[in-house]
Amino acid sequence: MRFIMKDVNRPLIAALIKFKEANPISFHVPGHKGGILSGLPTELQTALQYDFTELAGLDDLHEPSGVIEEAQQKLSSLYGSDRSFFLVNGSTVGNLAMVYATCRAGETVIVQRNAHKSIFHAIELTGARPVFVSPVWDQITKTAGHVTVAQVGEALEAYPDAKAVILTYPTYYGLTGTELEKIIRFCHTYEVPVLVDEAHGAHFVVGEPFPRSALEMGADVVVHSAHKTLPAMTMASFLHIRSDFIAVEKVAHYLGMLQSSSPSYLLMASLDDARAYAEFYNGEDIKSFMGQRMDFIKRLGIIPGLQTIVTDDPLKLILRIEGFTGFDIQKKLEAEGIYGEIADPYQVLFVLPLLKVGTTYPFDEICEKIKIAVACLDGLDRIVNLGEIPSLEEGLSRLAYTFEEVANMEVEWIPYVESVGRVAAASIIPYPPGIPLLMAGEIVKDEHIQTLGKLLQMGAKLQGAIRINEKQIVVVKNRVEE
Ligand SMILES: Cc1ncc(COP(=O)(O)O)c(C=O)c1O
Repeated sequence: MRFIMKDVNRPLIAALIKFKEANPISFHVPGHKGGILSGLPTELQTALQYDFTELAGLDDLHEPSGVIEEAQQKLSSLYGSDRSFFLVNGSTVGNLAMVYATCRAGETVIVQRNAHKSIFHAIELTGARPVFVSPVWDQITKTAGHVTVAQVGEALEAYPDAKAVILTYPTYYGLTGTELEKIIRFCHTYEVPVLVDEAHGAHFVVGEPFPRSALEMGADVVVHSAHKTLPAMTMASFLHIRSDFIAVEKVAHYLGMLQSSSPSYLLMASLDDARAYAEFYNGEDIKSFMGQRMDFIKRLGIIPGLQTIVTDDPLKLILRIEGFTGFDIQKKLEAEGIYGEIADPYQVLFVLPLLKVGTTYPFDEICEKIKIAVACLDGLDRIVNLGEIPSLEEGLSRLAYTFEEVANMEVEWIPYVESVGRVAAASIIPYPPGIPLLMAGEIVKDEHIQTLGKLLQMGAKLQGAIRINEKQIVVVKNRVEE
């Protein structure tokens, strides 16, 4: 059953409906003129009737003083920020803006190594110098997790002039760790702001048993992909700021430059809706969601061979079958029409729907299909032992060359198995999750090569500088001095 939101104050949506009801004649952009010139399928054409621009009464994202301001204020009150912004280019643009607002070329930033590529792009664009903190390896999910207060402390002691500490919370797999609040307090004693990419945690605001938001724990800037876990359209995201160290105006300034001057009203309307969804998600909804989730997990638990693994975020669920890679499992699930979020060498990750009381998902049918998919795996050869993907060494690390230096160096393609000790000339990024395995300017280590070998063998999707058929990567020509 679909969810219909009634009688809830969504100022931007109300303004769009009112505007459309007046049957406006368009002599303005966009060129589809309310959808009538569009060749899109009917359902999409219908949505275009609301694809307005900065018209009378519809405000302006870049100078909000009307319904967009009202909608953003509601967002800010919900999340407890000093100011919150609608983003129309994903958490990507939020991550760019928060890094631009805190550092300049040559300045040091401390970064969790398993950050999303958008964080590294921001660092490259600003010319800041990253110091990486390796995350602890989570044995249960077999993924990179959080960083500890001891690690961040070591980094700040070594680099007390750092302009920001940039963390990812939760991880793609819903891991939160237990030290974020302490880390934030510690950084603040150094007067260093903490920027948190909380792309996967926009729904945490609904309360327990979901983890707490980094914003509640005192983080200075927090970015949310509302589209990942709340019912917002793809790309629609939030940025929140509450900081003694970063001026709101600075973030607004960079968002003004980095976001389109023609932000989509459909995306913004979906953000107004997603905020209202989270705001009115109550204790009964949580109880109902947790009940449906538990029931689903129990039913999956009786499928022979299927293992389910839960993480800190109840919205995430991992499926594993011993002897098969996540890529194998993913293929069989997709053959049955079940699309998970991500596969990795060990497992498939599901993002569950944040159901409200009265909304349903076809769990009966889903369980049947998963059962068939799992049974179909019997036709494949079992890999006796997947082995462990080596985690990266603990401690702090820096790039051997800055992104800018690498960009001006001569490079060569070489077999990746011969690249240990060389400096990568471009990043290699398993996608999803979009966390670089190897970054431009980073010294290639044996662990990188072993992981790359495993990922290639298992058919993982890789973005960036890799020639898959030739098994080559690109490195800088001259060797670094040991
Ligand atoms: C941790 C993390 N941060 C940022 C992003 C980028 O988010 P968006 O797709 O909303 O731009 C992603 C996307 O997967 C992500 O996983």
